[in-house]
Amino acid sequence: MECFRILGPTRLHGEVTASGAKNAALPALAASLLAEGPLELSGLPAVRDIRTMRQLLGHLGVDSEEDGPSLRLRAGNQARSDDAPYELVKTMRASILVLGPLLARLGHARVSLPGGCAIGVRPIDQHLAGLEALGAEVELEHGYVSARARRLTGGSFRFHVPTVTGTENLLMAACLAKGTTVLDNCAREPEIRELATLLGKMGARIQGAGTERIEIEGVESLNAATHRVIPDRIEIGTYLIGAAMTGGEIFIRGAASADLAPLLEKLAESGCDLSISDSGLGLSRPTELKPRDILTAPHPGFPTDLQAQYMALMTQASGQATICETVFENRFQHVPELARMGADIHIHGTFAHVHGPTALSGARVMATDLRASACLVLAAIAAAGETIVGRIYHLDRGYERMELKLQQLGARVERLAAEPTRATTTP
Ligand code: EPZ
Repeated sequence: MECFRILGPTRLHGEVTASGAKNAALPALAASLLAEGPLELSGLPAVRDIRTMRQLLGHLGVDSEEDGPSLRLRAGNQARSDDAPYELVKTMRASILVLGPLLARLGHARVSLPGGCAIGVRPIDQHLAGLEALGAEVELEHGYVSARARRLTGGSFRFHVPTVTGTENLLMAACLAKGTTVLDNCAREPEIRELATLLGKMGARIQGAGTERIEIEGVESLNAATHRVIPDRIEIGTYLIGAAMTGGEIFIRGAASADLAPLLEKLAESGCDLSISDSGLGLSRPTELKPRDILTAPHPGFPTDLQAQYMALMTQASGQATICETVFENRFQHVPELARMGADIHIHGTFAHVHGPTALSGARVMATDLRASACLVLAAIAAAGETIVGRIYHLDRGYERMELKLQQLGARVERLAAEPTRATTTP
């Protein structure tokens, strides 16, 4: 199984370019089911989850072909299947994003329940309740969701909890419903605003995306469109944290600051110097790192997808920082792995208390999920000696060519085809 071998400590310095946002690209790809096409998407990141979604869409009858930097998708007027099988859905929860579009376009859909994952149970009850509010008949049987509706009808629905993919599923379904839909307590992540922009280009009539209330006036059909995916704010945040953690200096071309305010505020408060320009974001850290507490929350709160990376950063701060994870129930799995590198972290329920600064030392560690793996890579770059990060298939789901970007920033990272049986260098 592939792993990363990292030698540290290294200060990250130099320039990299932000990749497209995985969590904006996935709903954009699913939106191809809503129209005959073609839908042309550019800026898609070359990561495993995007390949998985293309494979699932192909199974459903959406043909996709690469045209230079773009991907052209055509759903045509006949779906090959309305069935999203377990074998595909179990590898990527975001597969559930085909449910709303399939139901809206075909009037029926059968999608495997995604199942849980390392960070939590990840229910989809709000997706299903929302589709029922639009007139769908929904049944759960043999691990699958079966949904039918001759034609969805506009309605009102209030999410019990702001759910990103739940909001995206309902947004896409409501575009082709008969009548107007009002969604309340919607997630407000930038990726939702982006999806609404794409749907608008396809002819949808949407007001309020990015706020907690979204109104959608259903239309008879949607059309072809061309769209570029926004930069990945979580990838950008990950590299900014890496530079802050190692006392380096980097510039991320194409990075936008608007959607990263909660992280940028914390980095500035903890002693980092930030530069914001039209071409990107820069960071240096001239002084010691001061500890700053965070509490993760739906946007515009501190993103849960940067919690693990921020925890690695706080191991280098002079004092105690408290990190509260409020979104997912099991998102501290990186803690025991950081502890193997010498980190001093104590968990009490949803709180993690990080004591620093700690001189991390290289060790063999194991990635457990996408963002935990990024956290361990950053810690390994700051640590003295050799680190082997195992199960980096988690990382490949959402970070484009991470070892190449880190090498560009001066890190000593290499991808090995298999984990070595013993340390290959003495620290
Ligand atoms: C999206 O997941 C992201 N994935 C996640 O990114 C991200 O961590 C998460 O939003 C929160 O920001 C994509 O966009 C593909 P949720 P999603 O539904 O939509 C509860 C990454 O690392 N909930 O917003 O699946 C749920 O239990 C990934 O890139 C219900 O109770 O997350 C959780 O506590 C990880 N019922 C909370 O809402 C539902 O029907 C937020 O989950 C749906 C969700």
